[in-house]
Amino acid sequence: MTCVALLSEVLDMEYLATAFREVSPGIDVRQGADLGALDEIDIAVCWFPPHGQLAQLPKLRLAQSLAAGVDHMLADAQLPRDVPLCRIVDSGMAAGMNAYVSWAVVQQHRGMRAYVASSATGLWQEQPVVSPRKHRVGIAGMGTLGMACAGALATIGYAVRGWSRSAKADLPEGVTGYHGAGQLDAFLSGCDTLVCLLPLTPETHGFLNADLFSKLPHGAHLINVGRGDHLVEADLLRALERGQLSAATLDAFSQEPLPASHPFWKDPRILVTPHIATRTDRLVIAQQTLANLAALEQGICPVNQVDIDRGY
Ligand code: NAP
Ligand code: GLV
Repeated sequence: MTCVALLSEVLDMEYLATAFREVSPGIDVRQGADLGALDEIDIAVCWFPPHGQLAQLPKLRLAQSLAAGVDHMLADAQLPRDVPLCRIVDSGMAAGMNAYVSWAVVQQHRGMRAYVASSATGLWQEQPVVSPRKHRVGIAGMGTLGMACAGALATIGYAVRGWSRSAKADLPEGVTGYHGAGQLDAFLSGCDTLVCLLPLTPETHGFLNADLFSKLPHGAHLINVGRGDHLVEADLLRALERGQLSAATLDAFSQEPLPASHPFWKDPRILVTPHIATRTDRLVIAQQTLANLAALEQGICPVNQVDIDRGY
C-alpha cells in the first residue's frame, strides 16, 4: 500500500489527507508529529516542510510540492537530491492566475479604486480612459503561468511583452518576447505594468530592486505574484516615494502573514492580498502526486519534475 506523508510547518494539511483518501481509498496518509515507521513512507507532499524531515525518510521515492513553486523545499539544505522532486502544473491554477493578474492590471490602469471610493460617496467622476492597446504590460517569467497570463491580457487588448531565461518559439499571438540578461533593459523600458511571475531562485532573489525600478517607465505599476523575496521592500517604498513607481499590487511577502505593523498596510499606493492569486484543487494535487509515483514506478520521468540544480 502506498504511504503518503503530508509535511508542513505552516499549513493544516487535513484538507489534503481527505483528498488522498477520496482519490485512493485505503491509502495510508500520515501527518503531524508522529509519522509512524519512517521507512514505510513513499511520498512526501510538502508546503514549507520542517527542515531535515525529508532526509529522515529512508525509502522516500517522491518529494512533491503541493504548489507550482518549489523554493520552500529547496530552502532545506538537507533535501535529498537523489529523490525526484515534482511540482503542480494545472490548468485550473493557470486560470486562477489569469483572473488575478488581469484584475490587478485593469484595477490600476482604469483607476477602479477611485470608482470604489466615488461610488461610496455618490460622486459621478471619470478617471482617464486609456485604451488597453496603449498600456504596455510586461511579464517577467514566461513559464506555465506567465504564458497563460500573457495570452489572457493580449486577448483583452493589452500590449503584452514577456521576458524569460530562454527564447520562446510558442508565444501567444501578439505577445513580444525578450530573453536573457542582455534583453532585460529593453524589456523593462516598455513595461507600464510589470508582473513578476518568476520562480524564486538564487538568481531571481531580490530581482525587484531599485536598479530595476529605475529602468521602468516613470510611474509604472508593479504586480508581484511570485515570491516575497523577489522584492527588496525598502527599494519599493523609495520608488513609490519618488514617483518612479505609482502603485504596487502585492500577493506574496517575505514574511507571511504580513505583520500588522508592516508599512505596506498603511500605504495607499500599495494593494495587499494574502497570497491568494490562485490555488490548486485538492483533488488535482492528490491525482497528480499519485500519477507522478506511477510514472516513476514505470521508469518514466514525471512530467512536472523539477531540475534541482536550476532551482525550478
Ligand atoms: P515555470 O513554469 O517554472 O516558469 C518559470 C519562468 O521563469 C520560465 O519562463 C523561466 O524561463 C523564467 N525564469 C526562471 N529563472 C529566470 C531567470 N534567472 N531569468 C529570466 N527568466 C527566468 O513557473 P510557473 O509555474 O509559471 O510559476 C512561476 C512562479 O509563480 C512559481 O515559482 C511561484 O513562485 C509563483 N506562484 C505564485 C502563486 C500565487 O498564488 N501567488 C501561485 C502559483 C505560482 P525559461 O522558460 O527560459 O526556463
Ligand atoms: C503558490 O504560491 C504556488 O507556488 O503554487
